[in-house]
Amino acid sequence: MTKRVGILTGGGDCPGLNAVIRASVVKGVRHYNYKFIGIKNGWAGLLDFEWTPLDRDSISGVIHRGGTILGTSRTNPVKNEQVKQLAIENYKKLRLDALIAIGGDDTLGAALELHKAGLHIVAVPKTIDNDVGGTDFTFGFETAVQIATEAIDRLHTTAESHNRIIIVEVMGRHAGWIATYSGIAGGADVVLIPEVAFKLEDIVQVINARRERGRTFSIVVIAEGAFPEGKKDAYLKSDKVDDFGHVQLGGVGVALAKDLEKLTGIDCRTTILGHVQRGGTPTAFDRVLATRFGVTAIDMVKNEQWGYMAALRGTEVVPRPLDECVHQDKRVPAELYEVAKVFFG
Ligand code: F6P
Repeated sequence: MTKRVGILTGGGDCPGLNAVIRASVVKGVRHYNYKFIGIKNGWAGLLDFEWTPLDRDSISGVIHRGGTILGTSRTNPVKNEQVKQLAIENYKKLRLDALIAIGGDDTLGAALELHKAGLHIVAVPKTIDNDVGGTDFTFGFETAVQIATEAIDRLHTTAESHNRIIIVEVMGRHAGWIATYSGIAGGADVVLIPEVAFKLEDIVQVINARRERGRTFSIVVIAEGAFPEGKKDAYLKSDKVDDFGHVQLGGVGVALAKDLEKLTGIDCRTTILGHVQRGGTPTAFDRVLATRFGVTAIDMVKNEQWGYMAALRGTEVVPRPLDECVHQDKRVPAELYEVAKVFFG
């Protein structure tokens, strides 16, 4: 029986989103004769009734394109009962048999609530931060790590030429996956992550030990959510909160540069990579992972596995119950951070 399937992308964009959309549409049209619509700008499109037909033409030539052809937002469709009822009503008005929600923890949490309210939802995890539970990796992460590693490589030569400390601030609100991976790959001298509060004196010690070995420059990679011991929370860029209650982070790299310059007497600079990590073309690995997620998602629709999420477990992509995956805050394991620490100094 033919089905009418909606697809939406929510939360921060991420390289590989278009590859997921393309994969679900191609398999859905070719194998199952499904019809697709794209809901625009994440959950906002469901509430505002903004959508577009999706067919094989509309997804042609998008596998290598970053961002999302559907647009995205941080709109929360379950922020109160009234909004939730509107989302349910519009799902029915759109005559959907199923909805594929592609997003990070916030989008997936909302998907779970709407599934519990009776909507036929399957989910696909995305985020450059790699902090969604239930899956070993999310697509977009590898691309972000590649971009950060290339930046660290470039910053090494200028740090060395000027005998400076360069602090590289990367994304990662609650989890330091990008910092740890790019720090290891880029040969960073110190890596600081939200999972482990840092001590200024430890960093100074590493820098001084390097100086004694004749190394007059250092590279410190820091996740935006990292903070020093004694401070309870991450540095905030603004108090403005989004629909899910998140504040905008930023400032830790600049604050650290000031402190380190004072304590070491070495000239410090900060580079904030910001949204460069999220934009542009996905790596081949991310295109393949995103494609596998998209194919699995449409198979989950076929099998009516509502309330399930496509997940990478080892080398397999498998459906997993959403309620075992959301709100897990997948952190960098201590043993991985220990690997980065071997190279401190
Ligand atoms: O995509 C997740 C994330 O990269 C976080 O690490 C970061 O704090 C946030 O997005 C910033 O996104 P925006 O500026 O779009 O709100």
